[in-house]
Amino acid sequence: MAVPVQVAEQRSQQLASYEQAVSACTRCRLAEGRTQVVFGSGNPDAELMFVGEAPGFHEDQQGVPFVGQAGKLLEKLLAGIGLERADVYIANVIKCRPPGNRDPQPDEIEACESHLFRQIELIQPQLVATLGNFATKLLTGKPLGITRVHGQEQWTTLGGNRVQLYPLYHPAAALYTPRMLQVLEEDFARIPQLLGTDDVPKPVLQLAPAPEPTVQLGLF
Ligand code: URA
Repeated sequence: MAVPVQVAEQRSQQLASYEQAVSACTRCRLAEGRTQVVFGSGNPDAELMFVGEAPGFHEDQQGVPFVGQAGKLLEKLLAGIGLERADVYIANVIKCRPPGNRDPQPDEIEACESHLFRQIELIQPQLVATLGNFATKLLTGKPLGITRVHGQEQWTTLGGNRVQLYPLYHPAAALYTPRMLQVLEEDFARIPQLLGTDDVPKPVLQLAPAPEPTVQLGLF
């Protein structure tokens, strides 16, 4: 749905100034080893937001999430449902690259999570697709792993708004496991339905021309 111009401008400015503030974040040890904070990128008015795990080498270098191999797959999956990066917003649970791409530590997630919550609050997406275990566990608030919950949408409240969460396998995991890739593609294919954008255009009814007014003979 189109967002009024003023709302869009205000949102984009708020997101940009929040990004500026976060670029100097030193809340956890990851600040020491990063090249830069990888805040997030895409459409600030997106109905669909993706949340991954943490920046890797290329993301840390370029300052943009999902620019490596996993990102290429994500773009391919998006194209499969008629979308591109510019249509969605992409962020991570953790905004700075963990050394050697190790898993984020619980205290790092805790230090960083309010950045993600603020992003969700500003963007107000309709659907948040969590990619992999870290994003799924954080945003569902439950310990259930991605293998159990992938493809199962659930409502929650995030940033003061009702949002549908949609857990998906992480594209990086699917890169090397064909069966996982197939499941990811199948789960992805349901996104248009969850967004309510899968409606087949309704045929335009061809209205018959209005009948000529019948001449009243004044019989009554
Ligand atoms: N790139 C990201 O930005 N996040 C991930 O979770 C994986 C790769």
